[in-house]
Amino acid sequence: MKIVVIGGSGLIGSKLVRKLREHGHEAVAASPDSGVNTLTGEGLAEALKGASVVVDVSNSPSWEDAAVMKFFETSTRNLLAAEAAAGVGHHVALSVVGTDRLLASGYFRAKMAQENLIKGSSIPYSIVHATQFFEFVKGIADISTDGSKVPLPPALIQPMAADDVASAVGRIAMGSPVNGTVEVGGPEQFRLDELVRRFLAARKDPREVVTDPRARYYGVELSERTLVPGDDARLGETRFETWLSQPTGQIQSAKPQPVRKAG
Ligand SMILES: NC(=O)c1ccc[n+]([C@@H]2O[C@H](COP(=O)([O-])OP(=O)(O)OC[C@H]3O[C@@H](n4cnc5c(N)ncnc54)[C@H](OP(=O)(O)O)[C@@H]3O)[C@@H](O)[C@H]2O)c1
Repeated sequence: MKIVVIGGSGLIGSKLVRKLREHGHEAVAASPDSGVNTLTGEGLAEALKGASVVVDVSNSPSWEDAAVMKFFETSTRNLLAAEAAAGVGHHVALSVVGTDRLLASGYFRAKMAQENLIKGSSIPYSIVHATQFFEFVKGIADISTDGSKVPLPPALIQPMAADDVASAVGRIAMGSPVNGTVEVGGPEQFRLDELVRRFLAARKDPREVVTDPRARYYGVELSERTLVPGDDARLGETRFETWLSQPTGQIQSAKPQPVRKAG
């Protein structure tokens, strides 16, 4: 089966392409690096020729409100139109658990717009809602840092390894479209402040996490369960401590243009 992975050079995309190939599929990594740009449409028709499935794990280079909205709206429109023309039978997209509860953030409004375009299109689809990647915890710390302090709320979070996200997306891409949303999460829940505290301690980072129920997460005030998935979520296996102890654990930094500073 030919499966095109948009964002195939990214954190999740590169793992996903490898896993799909291990399962014997013809997985094509598509991104500006390889001449496929969903924003401009460049290279899309050619890449999608003969594809059965398209998986979109791309991300906007800028998280500034207008830029991120333009990225997800324009890319998704271009992609869905190219899929319709190529006769693609399954569109899979990666989004975030709790997107509909995080709309005070421009980033999540853009993810919501992406999801709505997919739901309104004629292409059978599966939307995968994942929780925060372990690789993203450093980004949360960085964007929340104020001097030597990191104010964070004690909201629940159920993060997961990027490797487990890629496995879950791969399984869904190889299956039939669900025409709905599937939630995936990690095997354990943490308090957000405590998770970042543990991460910084393990990395011998001197920043101090300060528990502050009013501190914002990417500009959003969190309630206890904003970030956690429902009871039906499929859970990854990798535990945070196991991931932390891996010297090669990939670390993803915060994006250069934060939506709003936490605190
Ligand atoms: N971070 C989290 O905790 C989290 C949690 C749940 C869901 N998600 C979602 O997971 C998805 C993937 O995240 P990630 O961290 O794997 O992303 P990433 O590592 O930042 O990779 C982004 C990918 O998008 C590609 N891209 C950028 N502009 C493009 C364009 N115009 N046309 C086609 N491709 C383009 C990049 O290609 P180049 O390398 O060529 O620039 C790269 O392959 C995102 O949609 C995000 O919302 C993230």
